Amino acid sequence: MQFRQLIPLFLLSSSVSAGVFQQKPAKCSKGRTATHSQCCVWFDVLDDIQAGLFDRGQCGEEVHESLRLTFHDAIGFSPALQHQNKFGGGGADGSIMAFSQIETKYSANDGVDEIIELQRPIAIRHYVSFGDFIQFAGAVGVSNCAGGPRLEFLAGRSNHSRVSPDHLIPEPTDSVDAIIARMGDAGFSPYEIVDLLASHSVAAQDHIDPSIHGSPFDSTPSTFDANFFLETLLKGTVIPGASLHPGEVKSPLQGEFRLQSDFALARDPRTACEWQAFITDHDLMVSRFRAAMSKLATLGQNRKRLIDCSEVIPVPKNTKVGNPLLPAGKSMHDVEASCKSKPFPCLATQPGPETSIPPVPPS
Ligand code: HEM
Ligand SMILES: *[C@@H]1O[C@H](CO)[C@@H](O)[C@H](O)[C@H]1NC(C)=O
Repeated sequence: MQFRQLIPLFLLSSSVSAGVFQQKPAKCSKGRTATHSQCCVWFDVLDDIQAGLFDRGQCGEEVHESLRLTFHDAIGFSPALQHQNKFGGGGADGSIMAFSQIETKYSANDGVDEIIELQRPIAIRHYVSFGDFIQFAGAVGVSNCAGGPRLEFLAGRSNHSRVSPDHLIPEPTDSVDAIIARMGDAGFSPYEIVDLLASHSVAAQDHIDPSIHGSPFDSTPSTFDANFFLETLLKGTVIPGASLHPGEVKSPLQGEFRLQSDFALARDPRTACEWQAFITDHDLMVSRFRAAMSKLATLGQNRKRLIDCSEVIPVPKNTKVGNPLLPAGKSMHDVEASCKSKPFPCLATQPGPETSIPPVPPS
């Protein structure tokens, strides 16, 4: 009796080890391999977007917009609404692409229609879900930026979604209280808001002041560096366009654009110390961004049901970027240090004539 029971057990355990523990990597296109066969399609998507959408692996406008889109899709997620028996949104579910005719009318989504229209046909021709595609494009895109992170990418989000409710995406006119409350509802701490805002180191505005579209949030919008965190703490002295617009405050440099929300978060006691910490610790900025992005990308999703296809995300080439210097013409007197518990680091100033950011030529 005992012996008979042993045979099937033995067969079972050997098939388990062959099927799961000693699984051969799946063969994908161009001699590439993946741990899971379901990841292979993402190599083809990668080739496609790097060559086309991202203009041969650049960290340009389409990358910036793709990164912004990961946020605008995912943050449509509100347990607070759910508790009131209302639909709170499906998080990173692709609804912003599936229902773009509705969601792009929300004021916070001004401008995201362009990147959605560029991305949608690519998602459709590779037969991947909109929710997966949006997060994948953001992760690949930011790996193209010098100093950029290699983000996690999990695949397997359903292609079915419902329209996200309006008013879930923070706007630059919002107070810090309102931003902390909204992001807290979605599960982010005040520090994690700062972590996510490392994205604004590769960012520009087009729609708050359209007359100076392409004006960046820091002096190096193609580098994932801490200049954003430093420059937002400099005294605002310049109006980059003809006048200030709602959600805009004075910036420190000609041609640079400052969001009111970034100004306020840089100086609020709840967020200022995390903000300051990144200025002299690029590794910390990258690792915290990566952790917060993996949370963002799976809002409303069950991580256990997704497959880890992170191996498809390119390894960023230039991972080491220097700590920022004060822009030419600025001194430590221009820094509005705001972290009470730690002294502001002593920074040298870039040599040369006063820094200004050249206007971006129309594309
Ligand atoms: C406190 C919350 C945030 C506010 C109020 C905010 C607001 C904005 C605004 C107003 C713009 C300019 C859009 C335009 O005029 O074209 C922008 C751009 C951008 N945002 Fe945010 N944002 C927030 C958080 C985030 C997060 C969490 C991410 C990503 C993880 C992100 C990524 C970006 C990127 C990459 C751009 C640049 C887009 C481009 O250059 O085309 N933002 N943001
Ligand atoms: C996802 O849904 C959209 C409609 O919202 C459809 O156009 C697209 O083909 C679907 N993709 C897949 C992989 O089913």
